[in-house]
Amino acid sequence: MSANHSNHVVFFDTTLRDGEQSPGCSMTTQEKLTMAHALEDLGVDIIEAGFAMASEGDFAAIATITQAIRKPRIASLARAKTEDIEMAARSLQFADRARIHVFLASSDLHLEYKLKISRAQALDLCGESVRLARSLCDDVEFSPEDATRSERDYLVEMVRIAVEAGATTINMPDTVGYTTPEEYGQMFREVRERIPAIGEKGVVLSSHCHDDLGLAVANSLAAIQAGARQVECTVNGIGERAGNAAMEEIAAALYVRGDRYGVSTSIRLNQIYPASQVLGQLITFRPSPNKAVVGANAFAHESGIHQHGMLANPLCYEIMTPQLVGVDKTHLVLGKHSGRAALRHRLEQLGFTVGRDELQHVYYRFVALADRKKNIYDQDLIGLLPDAIRERRREPVAELD
Ligand code: KIV
Ligand code: ZN
Repeated sequence: MSANHSNHVVFFDTTLRDGEQSPGCSMTTQEKLTMAHALEDLGVDIIEAGFAMASEGDFAAIATITQAIRKPRIASLARAKTEDIEMAARSLQFADRARIHVFLASSDLHLEYKLKISRAQALDLCGESVRLARSLCDDVEFSPEDATRSERDYLVEMVRIAVEAGATTINMPDTVGYTTPEEYGQMFREVRERIPAIGEKGVVLSSHCHDDLGLAVANSLAAIQAGARQVECTVNGIGERAGNAAMEEIAAALYVRGDRYGVSTSIRLNQIYPASQVLGQLITFRPSPNKAVVGANAFAHESGIHQHGMLANPLCYEIMTPQLVGVDKTHLVLGKHSGRAALRHRLEQLGFTVGRDELQHVYYRFVALADRKKNIYDQDLIGLLPDAIRERRREPVAELD
């Protein structure tokens, strides 16, 4: 069975390349190595470790990672230029399993204004650079940059040439986050149908999405449904401008909605949150609290109706357990929207048993306090309790927050 028709989706992590090249995210070689270990633990198949030609630091980081990381394949990015490709190959010389990733724009906008070359020149460059890369490495990925804004016949022509020149993976990037799920999926179907060699040679099609319209993950999933068997993404969705497709969201969606996608991955889901935490410590910002899967509020519930439902059966308001992705537990946050059930539950955990009338009394005081204060801590709660309740305190089952 060719790679394209297998149901295994390869995770190509570009946190250390596309992610790292965004504001506030640059990392030293040592920091990149720390993150590479977290990515290895996470089970990603390929780590894009950097852009060797970009700086000595990037070259050093790629070379260092190839010597320390053994399980994932290591990729090094190169423009369609001889010196870039040779530099990428040198940066990978110690890798057990290496990939050279060559990219070249395919949209008229990029060819005319950025590269100032004709379509015909770009096709020549594509063939020559993929052939050169293949002479240096048996695993070569080619990306027609700005694929989603490229004229379709021309894109197909460039991909055909890259496949004939020996590319083993064709990645079609939505470089500026412009496409929609239907359109992106359709592009994958069309390219595969129009280039039979993709299926015949077992060339893997890959998605690479940016989040300018907030559609990066939806677009990546649409590509998978259309036959892409590699997905490019970053931890916490870091990356140029609004970021890249978030690795944790794609992995969680493929698992939780396995009924829709029916694909397997090598991702160790319970390493998702640890990897997110490692990255947060290495760069200048953490995911926003409401970020799916890894945000501080992703498994927190404040409203009374939700807390009541959660206490009755967590499935009422959680589609996955926090433990699935490596978060220790659900947080029932006490605030002005909370109800008596959650208040009683927390007091019980802190060792205070309250009767019905007592609860009513404490609840009124709690709501009055919550109206004035954004965060209610355990000490605040204890401060609301009448002496009679405090004196009956048992051994708590939870630590104070
Ligand atoms: O977004 C993009 O087009 C890229 C390529 C280099 C793959 O990051
Ligand atoms: Zn990108």
